Amino acid sequence: MITELKHPVLKTLINHLRESQTDALRFRHIVHDIARLMAYEALSTEPSIEREIDTWNGKRTFEFIDEENLLFVSILRAGLPMIESVTALFPNASSGFLAMRRDEKTHQSVIYYDRIPECKGKTVILLDPMVATGGSLCDAISVVKHKEPAKIISLNLIGSPEGLDVVDQKHPDIHLFIAHIDEKLDSNMYIYPGLGDAGDRSYNTK
Ligand code: URA
Repeated sequence: MITELKHPVLKTLINHLRESQTDALRFRHIVHDIARLMAYEALSTEPSIEREIDTWNGKRTFEFIDEENLLFVSILRAGLPMIESVTALFPNASSGFLAMRRDEKTHQSVIYYDRIPECKGKTVILLDPMVATGGSLCDAISVVKHKEPAKIISLNLIGSPEGLDVVDQKHPDIHLFIAHIDEKLDSNMYIYPGLGDAGDRSYNTK
């Protein structure tokens, strides 16, 4: 299932990312904000657990999201600013990392690093800002599915209609949240109008 989060605050933040004068530091800060707003929406049905805590007027029991059941998986490197912000919100959640590179000729993704901890029974939240062809996200979802999580959520900032269709066809059982669906994929398999390469924009690689 795909949900586009049609919120003017998200749209504004996304469109600031498109501006060429947005430097790497501000770019990462905006990605932090967007990831948090998206996590807030995406986890709205996540179960809570009761916990007894010490308060100013004695021991009391309150509800908390079951952070230890959450596992955030960042797709390197563009997903790094996203994981920084959501794990600051949930410091007891665990983190995993997947590194993929795009073959420049075939445009196929190749996984070259998989450091995802035990997923069984957990809610896994994949973090990848751009869904271009959808190929790398589909591969990441397949890797996670083999580890038997209870649920997979994907948080993505900008997607092409083509790439989102690919993910939805191949993995209709996951819930993908997208902040904006752009016009199309261009001939170089970049999202148009998009924002360029999210990893390069985040870390001034070029
Ligand atoms: N990855 C990006 O960062 N941008 C695109 O447009 C496509 C893939």
